[in-house]
Amino acid sequence: MLGNHIRALIFDLDGVIVDTTRFHFASWVTLAQELGFEIPASLDEELKGLGRLESLQKVLNYRAEITPQEDWQAMASRKNDLYLANISHLSYGDALPGVIEFLEDARANGMLLAIGSGSKNARSILSRLGITGMFNYICDGTDTKRSKPDPEVFQCACSGIGVSPGEAIVFEDAVSGVEAALRCGTRVVGIGKADILTKAELVLTSLEHTNIKEIIQKLPKSA
Ligand code: BG6
Ligand code: MG
Repeated sequence: MLGNHIRALIFDLDGVIVDTTRFHFASWVTLAQELGFEIPASLDEELKGLGRLESLQKVLNYRAEITPQEDWQAMASRKNDLYLANISHLSYGDALPGVIEFLEDARANGMLLAIGSGSKNARSILSRLGITGMFNYICDGTDTKRSKPDPEVFQCACSGIGVSPGEAIVFEDAVSGVEAALRCGTRVVGIGKADILTKAELVLTSLEHTNIKEIIQKLPKSA
């Protein structure tokens, strides 16, 4: 058993396990274009981690005319069709560099592994990557009602694997996801840029060239 009372690792999917974030954003850009308006590149960071409908609402803020609520579902569905077309190439072996090795090493060190993703496509993507079986529990956008930064998805993952939040580390690439982890009471490692993921306890550029033992050593000692 590694130190710091850590028993479980909870991974966000998009942007942590697999490089799908840019395809989510590209699909929103296309949807906006189809509706006759543009969204700024800066919105990419803000949308990360948010649920489909929550993201749509942020996108529609850039539309000059008001969009009736009865149109939202069809628009969200169109975005998902665009997204699925954009990731149609994803298959076995397409996890981000270092991810499989990281997961295997963590399992060998006795860690329980879970997914905590807001995506309703999470299970099918994990299955396409061929890594579903590496996780003890999966909690995704089909299991939860509230989008990150609400802690629901991480509470769901913690109870699913039977650990208390303080015994888990969440790995997140989104500001909203880091916030959700902190609200849940887990430890949190950011995957991305330190100047963006300012609330994470530790920020790494990726899961490549590291392992859970090293990360636990680098995390500030818990109170
Ligand atoms: C999150 C992504 O993981 O899932 C968001 O970071 C996305 O960009 C959200 O909106 C919901 O995904 P989906 O696949 O259910 O539309
Ligand atoms: Mg993410």
